[in-house]
Amino acid sequence: MKIGVIGSGGREYAIIKTLHTQNPEAEIHAFPGNAAMSEFAVIHPQITAMDLAGVREFCLLEKIDLCIVTPDDPLMAGMVDELEAAGIACFGPRRAGALLEGSKSFAKAFMARHHIPTAAYESFTDFSAALEYVQNAQYPLVIKADGLALGKGVTIVENKAAAETTLREFMLEQKFGAASSQVVIEEFLTGPEISVLTFCDGKTIKPMLSAMDHKRVFDFDNGPNTGGMGVIAPNPWFTAEVAREFETKIMQPTLAGLRADACDFRGCLYFGLMLTDTGLKVIEYNARFGDPETQALLPLLESNLLEIFQAVSRQELRTAEVKFTDLHCACIVLAAAGYPENPEKGKEIDYAPEVAKNLIFAGVKRSAAGKLITNGGRVLNVLGTGKTLPEAISQAYQNVAKVEFANCHFRTDIGAKALGIEEEK
Ligand code: AMP
Ligand code: GLY
Repeated sequence: MKIGVIGSGGREYAIIKTLHTQNPEAEIHAFPGNAAMSEFAVIHPQITAMDLAGVREFCLLEKIDLCIVTPDDPLMAGMVDELEAAGIACFGPRRAGALLEGSKSFAKAFMARHHIPTAAYESFTDFSAALEYVQNAQYPLVIKADGLALGKGVTIVENKAAAETTLREFMLEQKFGAASSQVVIEEFLTGPEISVLTFCDGKTIKPMLSAMDHKRVFDFDNGPNTGGMGVIAPNPWFTAEVAREFETKIMQPTLAGLRADACDFRGCLYFGLMLTDTGLKVIEYNARFGDPETQALLPLLESNLLEIFQAVSRQELRTAEVKFTDLHCACIVLAAAGYPENPEKGKEIDYAPEVAKNLIFAGVKRSAAGKLITNGGRVLNVLGTGKTLPEAISQAYQNVAKVEFANCHFRTDIGAKALGIEEEK
């Protein structure tokens, strides 16, 4: 069995490590991968995640049986459409499905059409119409770039002046290029956030465990948004009652909507949710695994990930087992100084050998001398598992203490809110 995995981050490392551990006979190729992945896979630094032709040629030449397309950019660029057209089986949605993440106005219209609870919104392509709308709106308001913007395309504005500035930056100055020439302006919601990743094959949808990401860079949700600084799984706010609400009001209606729209979504469909006073609402869809949610979920997966990927690709998810342990996992992101704006690179990474099995490598490469060095914003993830959430968190932080690189930054409060610990004012 030959498997291709697109991407180079912690999420892809976690997927590759799980595939390898559960199926040691499988031959895994990562495009481009990162240096640490070579423990489990053949890495191809010369074939990047957006090199559609390069990936296709390699898969054809090497007879890759299944290609896992994880990052948002290649999904939106139609990599799955292209690979499937060449006869290569894939896990990951085609471009039509990736639009649920790649265009916020598409996703909002989908939710409106299929009565899926979400924040009230308006969508604008015309700057003056958007400007007029914010004159009489209720604040705070949320302004979102329509397209992919590396997780930075969402701004919460407190007043009219701030709204005008953001609209100018997004629509006129095109801060995120074409991605922000169209905007969605939506109602500001409050409540705990819950991520639920699901496997979907277009006919059947099965949830994984719930998770809670921590998006801001500093403790107690201070500082700018990042790709995610840490995760706990399962999410304690996702009670059995909330899970029922999710399944009946959000998850199944989403699948029904996809079917009604003839959208054959085969991959991981990620629900970013908020538990508001007026019920559970969808903040966003992602058409892929979350990062770092995946890193905290896969260690708890009991079923065989490769069998699930194959079942999704063949539209046989209905009969596939998706089973998790009843343990808890905490994942702490160790980031480089300067992340998210301008991460420092090239620092040597040291860790105690006994902690290696709890490490997920993301922004790393090998120096000329063969040492692992930092090479990105989110450098590595440190895991802790336990029978209870406090145990998992404490284990994770004990492991963090055994890893170091110069100017390493991490949040010290991952899971704290879930344990009822609030910031001291
Ligand atoms: P998104 O990229 O859509 O997930 O948004 C990034 C983050 O912005 C979310 O995780 C929320 O914390 C916040 N956010 C997005 N939409 C809203 C909203 N309507 N109300 C409040 N916060 C929001
Ligand atoms: N951790 C949030 C995301 O992957 O979008």
